[in-house]
Amino acid sequence: MKAARTRTALASLCFGLALLAVQGPAGAQSEPYKVFDTRPVITEGPFLSALSDTSVSVVWMTDAPSHAKVLLRDGDTVREFEPQVDGLVPVGLRHVVTLSGLTPGKQYSYEAVATRVVKLKPYWPDKGLSASSAPATFTTFNPQGKRASFSVVTDTHEDTGRINRLMKLVDWPGTDALLHLGDAFHWLDTEEQLWAKWLRPTVAAMGPGKPLLFARGNHELRGAYARHLAGYVPAPEGTYYYARAMGPVHLLVLDTGEDKPDDTNVYARLNRTVPYREAELAWLRAHAASSKHLASAPFRVVAMHQGDWGWLPDNGAAWTALANQARVDLVIAGHDHEFSYRPPDQARAYHLLVLGQDQLARVDATERELTVRVLSDQGLLLHTLKIPTRK
Ligand SMILES: [Fe+2]
Repeated sequence: MKAARTRTALASLCFGLALLAVQGPAGAQSEPYKVFDTRPVITEGPFLSALSDTSVSVVWMTDAPSHAKVLLRDGDTVREFEPQVDGLVPVGLRHVVTLSGLTPGKQYSYEAVATRVVKLKPYWPDKGLSASSAPATFTTFNPQGKRASFSVVTDTHEDTGRINRLMKLVDWPGTDALLHLGDAFHWLDTEEQLWAKWLRPTVAAMGPGKPLLFARGNHELRGAYARHLAGYVPAPEGTYYYARAMGPVHLLVLDTGEDKPDDTNVYARLNRTVPYREAELAWLRAHAASSKHLASAPFRVVAMHQGDWGWLPDNGAAWTALANQARVDLVIAGHDHEFSYRPPDQARAYHLLVLGQDQLARVDATERELTVRVLSDQGLLLHTLKIPTRK
């Protein structure tokens, strides 16, 4: 048996070497399989999705089927991150590589590398050459940092002119992240729509080194391609909701689901947001009870699409109670398409700021004060909110 296996392996190796010899210098690689002289083209990205203090997901597209890896440089040290799914290296046009085990508050350089797979045969698949993105740097969030700044937009609703106007107002060197509060779309039909109406103009402004944080809106639950969206704005956690420790800010990015009950006829019994939101609430409850950064940070900020927590059987009572208990200072939301601000009241112990559709919010936090400045798409200062720390 062993001898037979060895013979087979030898035969395979000889076959591979023969192919390499036939292929000649075009392959230009000493691989024991066929390598065509063709490279993929990076057509979108790369960009950083849902950066944290220790991880980030890198996303990009190629024009032809490829497999992907990311080279991460820290000084002279190079680490390779290569994804696998059920033991297989993913081959496709969309690439997601999650980097984990990073050091908080540290600058890294990365390159996205895609290697062409010409034909995915069971044995001796035909390969091609690799294409790499230009090296780009990013800095992981620092839970111990003295400052944090992020820029917020919402409800861009497929209007690329709106996106371009708002992106020009962002102070990119001074912002740690771009936060989109959902409803980038009317509904989602295709991959091209996803890039053309949102990610392409956003990534063009953001570049490869600033992260995008995304809070899903109700419109993102609709349309034939809605079920694929998470693969384009992935979080290392694999969920649309997560927490980020950004210096003085403990940021909670939440998914407020739909704005109508699951049994509303327009959904044709295809929605199950009730158990989904219950799981999200359970996660938030556990996180609030266990996170040291949430407990000790000068500010807790919730970023979500619908400022009233979205449609829920209890109208959001459990969420409001949990936010009060967790000492949330600010909820920043969208959905209404116009600005509003409500100070804390008897029901809510937090400030509620709803950002308008053609507005940019810049959130700046020190250990003593959290400031939100809301600008019009012409750069006019519309509102300033200053929240002192409770400590
Ligand atoms: Fe909405």
